[in-house]
Amino acid sequence: MKDFQQIFGTEPETQASAPGRVNLLGEHTDYNDGFVLPTAIPQRTTVKLGFSKNAQHHFYSAELNQQVNISNNDPTPSGFASYIFGCIQLLQQEGYTIPPLNLHVTSQVPIGSGLSSSAALEVATLRGVRSLLNLDLDDVRIAQLGQQAEIQYAGVECGIMDQMASSLADTDHMLFLDTRTLERQVIAFPSGTEILVIDSGVPRTLAGSGYNQRRAECEEAARLLEVQALRDVSDPQAVEILPEPLKQRARHVITENNRVLEALQGVSAQRFGELMNASHASLRDDYEVSVTALDTLVAILQETPGVFGSRLTGAGFGGASVALVAFGQAKAIAQNVLKRYNDVGYTGRILVPASA
Ligand code: GLA
Repeated sequence: MKDFQQIFGTEPETQASAPGRVNLLGEHTDYNDGFVLPTAIPQRTTVKLGFSKNAQHHFYSAELNQQVNISNNDPTPSGFASYIFGCIQLLQQEGYTIPPLNLHVTSQVPIGSGLSSSAALEVATLRGVRSLLNLDLDDVRIAQLGQQAEIQYAGVECGIMDQMASSLADTDHMLFLDTRTLERQVIAFPSGTEILVIDSGVPRTLAGSGYNQRRAECEEAARLLEVQALRDVSDPQAVEILPEPLKQRARHVITENNRVLEALQGVSAQRFGELMNASHASLRDDYEVSVTALDTLVAILQETPGVFGSRLTGAGFGGASVALVAFGQAKAIAQNVLKRYNDVGYTGRILVPASA
């Protein structure tokens, strides 16, 4: 892999990094003004920066061995450069003058597994530019700009969870976030537990179109229930007046918000696990964003001793599972689960703990 010096012929002026995230509870709730409970993962994206010697920005991805040379007035590029370009454009719209940059990206965050590699890139980029130019931006503003880069420049109508998690969470705690008010609380994992993340090996398909469709269904359900957002309904019975599939979609969001609020009270590992299992069933049956591979992986995890609970994580349609397991047992459980999962024809991969 080529470093900054090999690509740009000088040393970087500064560097910054940001982690990917895994969401423990509160899936598909953030764009409904609801509640989420993610944590950061150990894998990070690192951005090194310097000043360009000409009028163009130069973005280089070491993993892809790809360079994009671009001016501010050019159309939005595709791929990894779209997120960086979007962040720079948004900073300019905020009134900052951003000179042409040399920017070098390395990342350990897996792409396409639902662990927010794009949010990690956005937050790392914004942190890097903040450091290079001494910009007066706080971590919440960085998350908000990252989300706008994703919506306006990468075309995904996402909520704010991923960027807030990447910007504000750490790997030792869960970050409870009210996505309407951005009120947040750092909370401990249930005692005696650690997390295990296994990629199903099935890349996310239909993630873009399926995601935006679910979002539109939720907005329609909120309109019919005469509330600003589904977050404003807490009684799952209220959905009975809705037509299908809006009834199921709304039921998922309402019950999922209730699960996060219950977990926030501080529950046992066993109860937290039950909430995760219920979340998976709801995402599979009511929200219909699971796939057979994820259902298989999650079922194996759920019946393995030492596992308190498991569910798909992220948007779904493929990607990774998360499990809450007995402290100190994640690696052994992971090997055992992976063997059983791979024996039925899949190719899974352990992502957290990173060394497993
Ligand atoms: C993606 C989006 C998030 C959130 C999750 C589902 O990761 O970027 O905003 O909606 O899906 O919970």
